[in-house]
Amino acid sequence: MSPLSFGFALDDVLVVTGAGSGIGRATTLEAARQGLRVVAWDLVGPAAAETAALAEPGRVRAEAGDVADAPAVRAVLEDVASTWAAPRYLANNAGPSSAGDLAFEAGIVAALGSVHTMTEAWAALAGADGAAMVVTASVAGTKVGTESAWYSTAKAGLAGYVRHLAAHRADRFRSNAVAPGMVDTPRLEGWAASAAGQRTLARNPLRRLATPADIAHALLFLLSPAAAYVNGEVLTVDGGWTVTQ
Ligand SMILES: NC(=O)c1ccc[n+]([C@@H]2O[C@H](COP(=O)([O-])OP(=O)(O)OC[C@H]3O[C@@H](n4cnc5c(N)ncnc54)[C@H](O)[C@@H]3O)[C@@H](O)[C@H]2O)c1
Repeated sequence: MSPLSFGFALDDVLVVTGAGSGIGRATTLEAARQGLRVVAWDLVGPAAAETAALAEPGRVRAEAGDVADAPAVRAVLEDVASTWAAPRYLANNAGPSSAGDLAFEAGIVAALGSVHTMTEAWAALAGADGAAMVVTASVAGTKVGTESAWYSTAKAGLAGYVRHLAAHRADRFRSNAVAPGMVDTPRLEGWAASAAGQRTLARNPLRRLATPADIAHALLFLLSPAAAYVNGEVLTVDGGWTVTQ
């Protein structure tokens, strides 16, 4: 068990998307350490399986699939509900890299539409007491304009979607988002050492990238009973980077 405890009930079920790497992997492993059973979902099956293999046996179930594929999403969640239990928690973390070469509409569908697809499929089964969902948004959706038009737009849209859910679906579940700054995951490999990375880190009061665990802890806190009265919030986790600009 983890020395951290946010008050989750033993064996409750959490679905984490993008669980094969970075923030999603860290969230899966910390949740498993806190006693949850976790569905580790990733486009890349072997990556999800690798995450599951890092956890205590039997606690993490790997699933391969695209979060934008609505029929596949529904089928997997129904199978999880019948073999484990209806997932009480959902961490919508998967999303394409801002460096991805996507047309505007395709980027919005991949980064924002997929969260709607996953959330609706989960909400059809969840709704037990204390149910909660969380989204990995970005400071790119709240404060920073990225080179990619669809990335900033989709991340801002996620904050709007969370506010909608918080206002209109709170009879079933709470909804919140985390807006990370720069996080040390494979998609930022080499960036911290680059000239642009060094310039950015020099303006960050903590002088470092976030670790995936820094973001995982914020995601899990917002999902947990410890955050039972937090609903509709976008929590910036960026070391103070954006408040010092
Ligand atoms: N790394 C950062 O600096 C940073 C900053 C702000 C926000 N974010 C957000 O955090 C989230 C996770 O990013 P990360 O840095 O951990 O990335 P990562 O590349 O380390 O991991 C992302 C994982 O998501 C999976 N994935 C991508 N599209 C998917 C899909 N359609 N269906 C299922 N799985 C899919 C990938 O296969 C990969 O394993 C993303 O939403 C990203 O936009 C990251």
